[in-house]
Order: sequence, then C-alpha cells, then structure tokens
Amino acid sequence: MDLSTHYLGMRLKNPLVPSASPLSRDLGTLQRMEEAGAAAVVMYSLFEEEILIGDLALHESLSAGAESYAEAISYLPEALYYQTGPEAYLEHLRQVKDHLEIPVIASLNGVSTGGWVRYARELEAAGADALELNLYYLPSDPQLAGSVVEEMYAQLLGELRRTVTLPIAVKLSPFFSSLPHMARRLAGAGAQGLVLFNRFYQPDIDIESLRTEPALELSTSSELRLPLRWIALLFGNVAVEFALTTGVHTAEDAIKGLMAGASVTMMASELLQNGIQRIGEILSELEVWLEVHEYESLVPLIGSMSVLRSGQSAAFERANYISVLRSYLPDAELPASVEAP
Ligand SMILES: Cc1cc2nc3c(=O)[nH]c(=O)nc-3n(C[C@H](O)[C@H](O)[C@H](O)COP(=O)(O)O)c2cc1C
Repeated sequence: MDLSTHYLGMRLKNPLVPSASPLSRDLGTLQRMEEAGAAAVVMYSLFEEEILIGDLALHESLSAGAESYAEAISYLPEALYYQTGPEAYLEHLRQVKDHLEIPVIASLNGVSTGGWVRYARELEAAGADALELNLYYLPSDPQLAGSVVEEMYAQLLGELRRTVTLPIAVKLSPFFSSLPHMARRLAGAGAQGLVLFNRFYQPDIDIESLRTEPALELSTSSELRLPLRWIALLFGNVAVEFALTTGVHTAEDAIKGLMAGASVTMMASELLQNGIQRIGEILSELEVWLEVHEYESLVPLIGSMSVLRSGQSAAFERANYISVLRSYLPDAELPASVEAP
C-alpha cells in the first residue's frame, strides 16, 4: 500500500504529522514519534515575543540593568510558556536534525515584520526542512480594519519569503471575512502550504477570585468539521497544499481530512492525551480502510470529497445551514414546563 503524499515540496511516506506541541521539546519523544511512523514533525513555535525578550535581555546584560527586562517579561507571560529562547531553540533543532531521518518543520509564531524575522534564516541554517508560520494576532482595537491585519500578514509572509528559500506553510485562524481571498493572497505572497486551523485557547473567568485564567482544553473529533469544510471549499481553488489540524483523533478523522483535500493530517491533542503509539495504530487502521475500499494510493482519495471534485457545494455552503437548522427544530424535545412557541 502506497501511503505517500506530497507536502511543501517533500515526499512524505504517509500523511500523519504531529503538529506543533510540547511533544517536540524532547528529543527522545521525537524519536519515538518517528519510530511510531510519523512522516514528518512540526516543532513547537519559536515566538516573536521570545526573540524580542531575548534581544532585550542581551541589551540589558550589555548595559548592565535588568529592570526593563523584568518589566517586559511581566507584560508577556505567554511568551514564557516554553521558556526556551531563540538560541536554545536553534540548538535543539540542530540536535533533532542530527538524530531524526524524517523532515522537521520549524515553527515561527509572530505577526510583525522586523528584526526577529532574521531567525527564519537561522532556522534554515540549522537544518529545518520547511517553515510553518503561525499567524496569531488578536485585533482588539476597534480602529483597526480587517484589511490592515490582512496586509500585515501578507507583508510578514513576503518578508519571510525573501529571507529564506525553505518552503513556507502558513497556519491560519478561521476568523477571516473572506478566507478564500486571504488564502489566495497568501499563496501569491509565497505560501506553499496552508495549515487549517490554528486553535485558540480562550481565557476563562473565575467568578470568585475575579481573575481570568488560561483554559487549555484538548480538542475532540467534532472540531474537525471546521477545517474539513474549509479545505473542501478551497481545494483546487488556491494553489497551495493543505494540512489539516484540529480534531484529528482517529483514522476516520484522517481519512475525512484527506477526502476534503488535505495532503497531510496533523495531530496534537490525541498524542498528548492517548500517547505516541496512536500514530502507529491510526496508520494501521488507515491502511486497512484503504485496502478494504480498494485504494492503492492516496492520490485518488485526496480531494475526492472536495467541492471541486464532488460537486457537493451546497453541503458545504450556506444552503446547508438552513436545512440543518430546519431539520432539527421539529424533532427537538422541549422540557414539559416550556411551551413551544
Ligand atoms: C499544549 C499545546 C501546545 C501547542 N503549542 C503550539 C505551538 O507552539 N505552535 C503552534 O503553532 N501550535 C501549537 N499548538 C496547536 C497544535 O499544533 C494544534 O494545531 C492544535 O492543538 C489543534 O490540533 P489537535 O486537535 O490535534 O490538538 C499547541 C497545542 C497544544 C495542545
């Protein structure tokens, strides 16, 4: 059975790729993922803030004052999540490249153009096979138009494109007024792949302490539907390869992703929750399913349920919204105390 696929100019032996997560912090864990059958791996992100803080720390140590460094850190607690910093990240990447045979995709997380982008070149020099750019910006300023944010993203990608020759994939959020337009724009600015979608960790409110708390919940298979829909809509309409992330927990989830048009399906929550051996289990199930359904390779499978190939546009577009709502209401069981309108 030929499970190979193409992603970011690479031929991968199968479509299962662990996405960015703390699992890639440890070389031993990465080796176990390779042994379990992972086709490539995405490293956890190097954050723009970490780089800026690192630069600031250097500046402070040179000018012998630690105060503004401490102040900057207190503004950026999320940047301390991984507590590595650019040099440690690069060193880790070199080690990983020395010990792994599968392609290693480095991940940069940031939104502004500027000095930190030079690290893309260093990631390339450290041996990264490709680069994933995680664009995560939360526009809380009412003065800021969506078009300005989109321009910012395209400019950053353009700058990275000019900085490295590595293939670049952009990991996006689903929150665009017109995702297809944005996807095309990013393809035009040099993205070879789009990773749909970044998953957001919303803060929660503790009603007793009156504090906000970070709430990190792992995904479930039902969250697959959002990237599934968008990849099915975009496949063949934008000149990029797609990676699906969010909600891949089983072989069935992976098959759905491939059918929608993903070249690779990525996993984080499933591996964090149920262990790295899930890669091997899902691969075996995928293989059995393909055999039973008489596929000899992934080629006819990838995109077979996309809008372009299946012609089922209504199912993925607005018409479905109306029919789903209408089909549910008549069956809804209302509690006895509530009168139907
Ligand atoms: C603990 C944790 C850490 C993560 N760290 C990163 C990261 O550094 N960079 C990134 O792009 N995505 C990161 N992600 C997002 C995952 O790569 C993935 O896109 C997301 O979890 C959805 O996939 P899943 O449903 O398989 O978990 C992280 C996810 C988790 C759960």
